[in-house]
Amino acid sequence: MIRRARPSDAPAIHALVHRYAGRDLLLPRPLTDIYERIRDFWVAVDGGQVVGCAALRIWWHDLAEVRSLAVAPEAEGHGYGARLVDAVAAEAARFGVSNLFALTRIPGWFGRNGFQEIDRAVLYHKVWGDCASCPKRLACDEVAVVRPLRPGAAERLANPDPRVVARVAHIVPPRAEGTTGSPALTVLPTFVHLDEP
Ligand SMILES: CC(C)(COP(=O)(O)OP(=O)(O)OC[C@H]1O[C@@H](n2cnc3c(N)ncnc32)[C@H](O)[C@@H]1OP(=O)(O)O)[C@@H](O)C(=O)NCCC(=O)NCCS
Repeated sequence: MIRRARPSDAPAIHALVHRYAGRDLLLPRPLTDIYERIRDFWVAVDGGQVVGCAALRIWWHDLAEVRSLAVAPEAEGHGYGARLVDAVAAEAARFGVSNLFALTRIPGWFGRNGFQEIDRAVLYHKVWGDCASCPKRLACDEVAVVRPLRPGAAERLANPDPRVVARVAHIVPPRAEGTTGSPALTVLPTFVHLDEP
């Protein structure tokens, strides 16, 4: 069963996320953060136990992220991951958001679930909000994937104003393995004025 999370699920969600955070597959999240954002979470429940979770984060009027997606190893392969992402996507669509993205090391799995790869640099809000301060920003091995929630939405996201992309790419170069040096974080986030609803 997939259902919205309750505060009493927070410790199980925390434990699940940290099983994978230890393997560098998910970002660790403090338990207090999970309680605070519990309304963003869905859980998969089997036999009364939480065996999966996923959270929605809305970044902008046209952009949301699915994150903290995890299914316990003993429950993998039963469709919980797909159904958790579907629940998050349905909620994003209900709020009128047109694209759901993820940063991931398993783009193949997301590809099977309605996502397509996209240049990370066009995810301005994520890049400014999280990536710019991430210690891995110069050696990030995650791939950006997006699931359009409306026809043509991913194409509109993928073809933004090139001036904006140039600014953001400076902060998190796409596929930056091997890059040395530290870019100066001097660019102001003026992009926010360029795509108001
Ligand atoms: C990714 C994850 C959520 C999938 O959960 P799940 O409940 O097993 O997913 P589903 O049951 O919906 O899908 C399983 C299918 O995907 C396939 N699959 C698994 N990993 C895959 C990959 N990297 N690429 C392509 N397909 C993959 C499985 O073989 C299975 O195929 P089948 O249905 O033909 O047997 C789970 O494996 C997990 O928690 N992984 C570790 C955390 C993680 O990486 N989270 C994503 C962070 S962005």
